[in-house]
Amino acid sequence: MRTTVGIIGAGPAGLLLARLLHSAGIDAVVLESRDRAYVERRQRAGILEQGTADALRAAGAGERMDREGLRHDGIELRFDRRRHRVDFPALTGGRSVMVYAQTEMCKDLIALQLEEGGPLLFEAEALAVEDADTDAPRIRFRHEGHEDVLECAYVVGCDGFWGVARQAIPAGLTRVFERTYPFGWLGVLADVPPSHDELVYARHDRGFALLSMRSPAVSRLYLQVPDGTDAGQWGDEAIWDELERRFETADDWRLARGPITQKSVTPMRSWVHEPMRHGRLFLAGDAAHIVPPTGAKGLNLAAGDVVTFARALTHQRDTGSSELLDAYSQTCLRRVWQAERFSYDMTTLLHRAPGATPFDDRLQLARLERITSSRAAETDLAEGYTGFPLG
Ligand code: FAD
Ligand code: DHB
Repeated sequence: MRTTVGIIGAGPAGLLLARLLHSAGIDAVVLESRDRAYVERRQRAGILEQGTADALRAAGAGERMDREGLRHDGIELRFDRRRHRVDFPALTGGRSVMVYAQTEMCKDLIALQLEEGGPLLFEAEALAVEDADTDAPRIRFRHEGHEDVLECAYVVGCDGFWGVARQAIPAGLTRVFERTYPFGWLGVLADVPPSHDELVYARHDRGFALLSMRSPAVSRLYLQVPDGTDAGQWGDEAIWDELERRFETADDWRLARGPITQKSVTPMRSWVHEPMRHGRLFLAGDAAHIVPPTGAKGLNLAAGDVVTFARALTHQRDTGSSELLDAYSQTCLRRVWQAERFSYDMTTLLHRAPGATPFDDRLQLARLERITSSRAAETDLAEGYTGFPLG
């Protein structure tokens, strides 16, 4: 098999890239190791920055998102039993975010790709990328019990943190920057209308909590839990009790309970692999960087990378200049490090580390006070949350 762009992975990065290339008239093949149902059900992110939503619309994949997604113009910060709303459009010249689940975005992109786009092979596991530093890179993969080879002009590794693509970059040429956190998130989906019409980020002495949503009828909630926690340890009532404590306010706000339909624990890490390109192999999304989830940057960074790649390849085709492709890694990493900084700041602002001292607690509260009393500090948060510009 032969194609112009071989894409490994049908997560948000690989699927959006396939769609962008299709719109630009560039052929591509997507290889995905899991089956379609698994990819469509994997419960992860829920917030699209305006730039991500705009990219989906421009690629002709925004129709259902615009019908069913929920535009959010702010978030609430909750601490010390107080509430403070951050108004995004007022602070950023009109920017907002969209609540639309990663599962739904992936379903839309898969349907479009299968209808109109190039091949998307499920249960096709990439085994290795070969000859990345030549003009003819190849992906060796296994599909329906056979080994095969995809000959490409370019390979994009969109295969997530556990993927194989980045192994093709010689260790001597790479640097990894990493930080782990001594806590994770217990995430639940519940069949109950969200108790607030915007997301609530709560800092509490017992730990962080987040109220989010998937639709007007489904809540998505998270609790900070110790590293290594097994989701099965937490009974449903214990989860609601703990959420109630951490979201408690001095006014009459109440948390509505409902049946919990899914539970899982996500570990937290900050991790960046540099460079994001080696010869004709490009890395995009979680294959190249991970952020802790606070602030919802992971999916949006993945989208930014593939928009940058599609733009660079189109530029090369149209002008013959490889200038943008050559700058790919630097261009993406500038934005990646801003998102790493933002996610780290949000995480340390709102979580309680196991060894936190009263001094640390006071500092967190002072940082929160600063955001709620200084327009400059609040604007910095709003700009980071609604997204850093591409390029
Ligand atoms: P992925 O979504 O990981 O997709 C990679 C794809 O490649 C997968 O489909 C995988 O099956 C496939 N693949 C892997 N290896 C191979 C191979 N060898 N051959 C073929 N295919 C392969 N972000 C937020 O903003 N908010 C959240 O609440 C949030 N929660 C998360 C919870 C979890 C458990 C995880 C892991 C991530 C979460 N994230 C969250 C991050 C966000 O979901 C990711 O940043 C986003 O999915 C990145 O997209 P991606 O396409 O780069 O990678
Ligand atoms: C969600 C996840 C996040 O990490 C976040 O900051 C906000 C919302 C969510 O899954 O809905």
